[in-house]
Amino acid sequence: MQQNQDQQKALLTAAKQAALKAYAPYSRFRVGCAVETDQGIFIGANIENACSNLGICAERVAIAHARMNDAKEIRALAVYCLDATRDPNGRFPVAETIPCGACRQWLAELAPQAIVYTNGLEQGITVSELLPHAFQLCTEHE
Ligand code: THU
Repeated sequence: MQQNQDQQKALLTAAKQAALKAYAPYSRFRVGCAVETDQGIFIGANIENACSNLGICAERVAIAHARMNDAKEIRALAVYCLDATRDPNGRFPVAETIPCGACRQWLAELAPQAIVYTNGLEQGITVSELLPHAFQLCTEHE
């Protein structure tokens, strides 16, 4: 369900705050994420590593954070890329602020109903718009 404008703004503000907790000494590209759930709002930020493929994105940290606090439903997710470049109109580019492929796969499985907001999008986008035909196993899993 789309959030009202105040809810969207509050979630993006929480994501922006979360970006300040990023550990991104290699890319210097700080990302924050906030998820709205049945148990409240949880945040995450990207955490990098000298072994570069071991870093984790803000979205997955926030989703894991929510799960560890018993959240069962992620209703909305906001991403704020603090260090994204601005275009000449002062807007953030969509490509630099949209969840990466790995995070889309996490969203498809763990937050399929979420509306996704970012500091580069004018309005929310659904998970199936982000990742149509998501991979999933057809056997039942708890
Ligand atoms: N990053 C995220 O946190 N989320 C995304 O969806 C895209 C990229 C992080 C990973 C890495 O720490 C930095 O941004 C630059 O790629």
